[in-house]
Amino acid sequence: MKTYRVAILGCRGRGTAAARSYHAHPRTEIVGLCDLVPELLETLGDELSVEARYDDFDRMIREEAPDIVAIPVATQLHYELGMAVLEHGVHIDVEKPICTTLEQADKLVAKAAEKDVRIAVHHQGRTGVPMRAVAEAYRSGAIGELRYVHASGKGYYGGYGLLNIGTHSLNAMMELTGSCHSVTALGRTGGHTTGPADVVPSPNGMGTMAGEYLTATLAFDGNHTGTLLQHRFSKVDISAYSCEFYGTEGRLFWGSRSAGILRVPSDVPGGKAWEPLPLVNPDGYDPESSAAADDYGYVDEYVNALDEDRPHRCSGEVGRHVLEIIMGIFESVATGKRVDLPQLLRSHPLPPWREAAGHGPTPDMPTPYWDWLAAEDERQGQ
Ligand SMILES: NC(=O)c1ccc[n+]([C@@H]2O[C@H](COP(=O)([O-])OP(=O)(O)OC[C@H]3O[C@@H](n4cnc5c(N)ncnc54)[C@H](O)[C@@H]3O)[C@@H](O)[C@H]2O)c1
Repeated sequence: MKTYRVAILGCRGRGTAAARSYHAHPRTEIVGLCDLVPELLETLGDELSVEARYDDFDRMIREEAPDIVAIPVATQLHYELGMAVLEHGVHIDVEKPICTTLEQADKLVAKAAEKDVRIAVHHQGRTGVPMRAVAEAYRSGAIGELRYVHASGKGYYGGYGLLNIGTHSLNAMMELTGSCHSVTALGRTGGHTTGPADVVPSPNGMGTMAGEYLTATLAFDGNHTGTLLQHRFSKVDISAYSCEFYGTEGRLFWGSRSAGILRVPSDVPGGKAWEPLPLVNPDGYDPESSAAADDYGYVDEYVNALDEDRPHRCSGEVGRHVLEIIMGIFESVATGKRVDLPQLLRSHPLPPWREAAGHGPTPDMPTPYWDWLAAEDERQGQ
């Protein structure tokens, strides 16, 4: 059985999480670390006993010949670094969302196909412990036929929540629903319907976005309908970040750390109550290790996918489809119309909307979320 050689490009928070899970998996070996910040390389290299440390990823890839390069860097760098790494003909594991426009996503997917390698997008919720429990219950017929899905974010400003958290929810829900063929969305900002002046840069370099409160209706290929809420709350509330699947025989609940089932009859006097679903760690996962179980499950899926010469369940194509849904939501907010997917419009729909209304380019805004939010409140006159 092959051991996959893995290099990590970016050794801060997400790079450390990725490195710990590749280190913990018996079929992957970390052969190189790269960062521009020497202290990060030292800390992670010492923790995982990796001596091959670089500040130049091209040299790292040439010298260490990895099979997979993980690219856990800020979102605005995903495209540029993803393309540069794919050029070496290696598989990549890029953080979510895949990148900031569909034009970029198309080029990444095409480059991987040209080089005959795979892209996995780090949506570890889909291969994580709660979703494994939900998917298993669904496949065993526990809620009968799926009818519709409801998902909420955790209360970030809507457009940012969509790019940051909605990307996970959309990818995870597609484990049960399959692909989405159209979206319709409503945006509210500062107490009015979101307008072109509300198109702003996202915090944390996730591209351009609009909408403080986003409400989207999603139509899936299997005739299931979904609602996705990304509403700003007065306080971030992690417990709201969840997805509920409604079936003919009951409901399934997916939370970031829990899973449950509600069997019919429910919601009636004397009806049944929610029951927790047993959470089972991925095979081979050691809870005593420093790796998170969901990241480990995502690595395990990559190993199996590469062994079987098939895409990861969180593949580049799926990551691109998630971005199609996100961009479709923004386009629908701008046009007030349904957007059919995959859309022909591959450039970002929002900047031209703003410019056509005479508001010029998007304003400069701070990058860190809480500073960004203070600036946005000031823009709205709050
Ligand atoms: N999957 C999840 O649950 C999850 C959670 C949080 C964030 N994210 C995603 O993770 C990404 C951000 O990760 P982070 O917070 O660890 O990023 P970060 O920006 O804090 O760190 C990135 C590191 O990469 C290094 N780097 C950047 N360019 C480089 C280059 N050319 N060569 C060498 N090193 C380079 C930087 O020096 C930095 O240390 C975002 O895309 C975000 O959406 C995912």
